[in-house]
Amino acid sequence: MIGRLNHVAIAVPDLAAGAALYRDTLGATVSAPQAEPDHGVTVVFIELPNTKIELLEPLGEASPIAAFLAKNPSGGIHHVCYEVDDILAARDRLKTGGARVLGDGEPKIGAHGKPVLFLHPKDFNGTLVELEQA
Ligand code: CO
Repeated sequence: MIGRLNHVAIAVPDLAAGAALYRDTLGATVSAPQAEPDHGVTVVFIELPNTKIELLEPLGEASPIAAFLAKNPSGGIHHVCYEVDDILAARDRLKTGGARVLGDGEPKIGAHGKPVLFLHPKDFNGTLVELEQA
């Protein structure tokens, strides 16, 4: 059911510093920052030949990554995103199998303009999983 690894998302306390690390130290191409107020984050995208890395910085008071950064003050891997062909079919199959979908269970439009869902980390080996309809 899952396809390509779309991205790995890393929460960072300082987006400018994180972007500089990937651009200057690791020599990657880093996008301009993009505010995603609906998701409570500001992101930069790092394009690699086979996938993307997203750096996430909290945006606003109720950012969903604020608690993660409180526990991991220097940042850390926050989630992985796999592509699926049909996000509603994937959701229904996962729910039937007992996996928990976060939020109200309806896809939201993610940072790439495509529908996304998140799956409970306790159901996936302690890893927050994002599904994106590619
Ligand atoms: Co993501």
